[in-house]
Amino acid sequence: MMARKEYVAGKAAGKQEGYTSTHFTPETAVIDLLKLIPFESGDVALDPSAGVNKVWFNNFPCQKEYCEIEEGTNFFEYAGKCDWIVGNPPFTDFVKYLMHSPSIANKGFAYLIGHSRINQVTPRRLSILESQGFYLSKLHVLTIKKWFGRYYFLVFSRSKNEGIGYYTENYSDEPLRRRTPHALDGRDSAPSQAESSPEVLSPLQAVSSPALPQVM
Ligand SMILES: C[S@@+](CC[C@H](N)C(=O)[O-])C[C@H]1O[C@@H](n2cnc3c(N)ncnc32)[C@H](O)[C@@H]1O
Repeated sequence: MMARKEYVAGKAAGKQEGYTSTHFTPETAVIDLLKLIPFESGDVALDPSAGVNKVWFNNFPCQKEYCEIEEGTNFFEYAGKCDWIVGNPPFTDFVKYLMHSPSIANKGFAYLIGHSRINQVTPRRLSILESQGFYLSKLHVLTIKKWFGRYYFLVFSRSKNEGIGYYTENYSDEPLRRRTPHALDGRDSAPSQAESSPEVLSPLQAVSSPALPQVM
């Protein structure tokens, strides 16, 4: 794996060959990850951050386009539409890429991200994407040791995967006694605001809710 010192030195040197090439996605990974996208004949795929290597673009199995800011095509100014957006976005702009994608993609979008970025895939962002018709439908974990180890390929599409979900509720310190009985049974969906507010509990519910053991 690249030493931290080498990484920092390379970063400072900007486009120095050694630094840039370490950020090229290995082609073997691209080939395998593209198998996870249900491309259909006639689809148009867009690589939104192609780099000089264009490794995603070159391996798309359908009609294709790319953006690369260094070549004068800024993803955020792309005026066309496509079926799929797939690639390795600049990691500092991952959230911008993610949230901009529904305005361009008809069928879906998929991004390779690192462990520090998966923390930015928040319930709130997932719910915004869902309101635009896109679900996180696949999550593939992989290893790229020449970078920082663990990587995730997230595929958002129009089909919901019941195995991947999210709750937008903040669970930080809500006492169990304030939860409705069905939430305590482990019902799948989070209670609505009205259901979970203590003031809508009947006196009977409020009195009869037993003190539950603390779950560690
Ligand atoms: C992490 S590199 C990925 C390179 C290549 N796609 C790969 O996977 O090996 C990200 C690339 O996105 C480009 N880029 C950054 N911002 C961009 C934007 N707004 N529009 C298009 N390309 C952008 C950078 O110049 C860089 O080449």
